[in-house]
Amino acid sequence: MAAAVAEKPAKSVRAPKVADQKMLIDGKWVDAASGKTFETINPATGEVICRVAEGDKADVDKAVAAARRAFESSAWSRMNGSDRARLMHRFADLIESHADELAALEALDNGKPFSIARAADLNLVVKCYRYYAGWADKLCGKTVPIDGNYFCYTRLEPVGVVGQIIPWNFPALMQAWKWGPALAAGNTIVLKPAEQTPLTALAIAKLAQEAGFPDGVINVIPGFGPTAGAAISNHMDVDKVAFTGEGSTGKIVMTAAANSNLKRVSLELGGKSPNIIFADADLDAATAGAFLGLFFNQGQCCCAGSRLFVEDKVHDKLVDRLAGMAKSQKLGDQFDPATTQGPQVDEGQMNRILGYIDSGKTEGADCVTGGKRVGDRGYFVEPTIFTNVQDNMKIAREEIFGPVMQVMRFKDADEVIARGNRTEFGLAAAVWTSDIKKAHNIAHSLRAGTVWVNCYDVFDAAAPFGGYKTSGIGRELGEYALELYTEKKTVTVAL
Ligand code: NAI
Ligand code: MG
Repeated sequence: MAAAVAEKPAKSVRAPKVADQKMLIDGKWVDAASGKTFETINPATGEVICRVAEGDKADVDKAVAAARRAFESSAWSRMNGSDRARLMHRFADLIESHADELAALEALDNGKPFSIARAADLNLVVKCYRYYAGWADKLCGKTVPIDGNYFCYTRLEPVGVVGQIIPWNFPALMQAWKWGPALAAGNTIVLKPAEQTPLTALAIAKLAQEAGFPDGVINVIPGFGPTAGAAISNHMDVDKVAFTGEGSTGKIVMTAAANSNLKRVSLELGGKSPNIIFADADLDAATAGAFLGLFFNQGQCCCAGSRLFVEDKVHDKLVDRLAGMAKSQKLGDQFDPATTQGPQVDEGQMNRILGYIDSGKTEGADCVTGGKRVGDRGYFVEPTIFTNVQDNMKIAREEIFGPVMQVMRFKDADEVIARGNRTEFGLAAAVWTSDIKKAHNIAHSLRAGTVWVNCYDVFDAAAPFGGYKTSGIGRELGEYALELYTEKKTVTVAL
């Protein structure tokens, strides 16, 4: 069934009309306590899509209280794991049957091409919920052989009320990465979507209600970081906070957790991932992988391969091919089937990217293609490639989060491992080579949570993802994400 949907060619759709949006607290769609609303815009045009209820501390307080009641209610806490699995499968089926509409909403709010939102984001969302539905009745503890005449066993219990703060680059998918394991383990949720992209979170929450989750299990509070986001991370009755976004925000969230109730913290932060191409690689595949690894999603990927290390011998040839590919990108409206690159998510992100491009030029890198904004309507940035990039330049050190590639030369494996690791980040990396020993050696030597060999951006709900070093704490996806959403209880019985 999933495969059949995945194989359907993307339909051509028009931008949907969207009504003003309320927030979801305790199973009811309500206005903000303050009555405030904010605009969400279409980044391809700068036009307002609709107004959204703007949550703040008062709304977060109500949502947390509802999530606590739901956590303690027998409807949720006594639900059989197999029934929770059924509920999650029903939810996944509903998302799948509305995938075209949801992809259109995602494209409109974020700017990514509709065809990508449908084929990549929504398919992965459905698979993520199905994967975690499978875990709901399989969370086993252990029996532990301790000294003496005792029976000792462990239980995996839900952490409780979890606060989740997500970014705007893959809105529905980041929600799925957080809701999947949280629901499978029996937690209750207060989610704050990014202020740039609140629409799919709200639409998917409606489907969760339709699937039959009890009131209060899922609450969604749209709003801004320093208000609604901070109210979650500071809250004394939130047991865990999960955050994805910028490193400096991650530090604020972690500090708030420490200064309130020591809630559990998991963080998925940025990266400056090395993508390493050896001369002995399949260069067609490596070129395509390098291009995808950086330009996918308008360059707005935490795992973007933004430091492209190319072995000297093939450097010039590869740069020519990449520049050709960059020039053939078709920038435009997210609903035009010909579009391959949409706008950046908002004006602030566009200006930030243009600032990095200026710094690359000032610091002496060569801009071989791109380098400018496109037009003056919407937030489009030309696909940009810098060569002659030195490791200490700002564009080689900081996360740009846009369609800007840094190409660096290298001579041998030891050199490129050392340079690849010389970064505060450790989210992802890739290596391209036909030498299997070299591939594994490099994969083991790079300090990153994910290493792709002869591929890039391969994601699967079963494969854990997360960062070494300042790229984060904890692993999302796979069995490992269940660690974040369960407490382990030891029970010892005298026999
Ligand atoms: P951000 O970290 O400010 O926003 C991410 C989420 O955190 C949003 O929901 C936001 O409302 C919330 N937030 C902001 N301040 C908060 C606070 N004080 N307390 C609690 N929650 C708060 O990221 P932003 O400003 O949208 O993007 C800036 C840069 O961050 C990007 O250029 C990119 O480099 C990086 N980024 C990385 C992402 C990733 O996937 N690792 C995703 C988004 C941004
Ligand atoms: Mg911000």
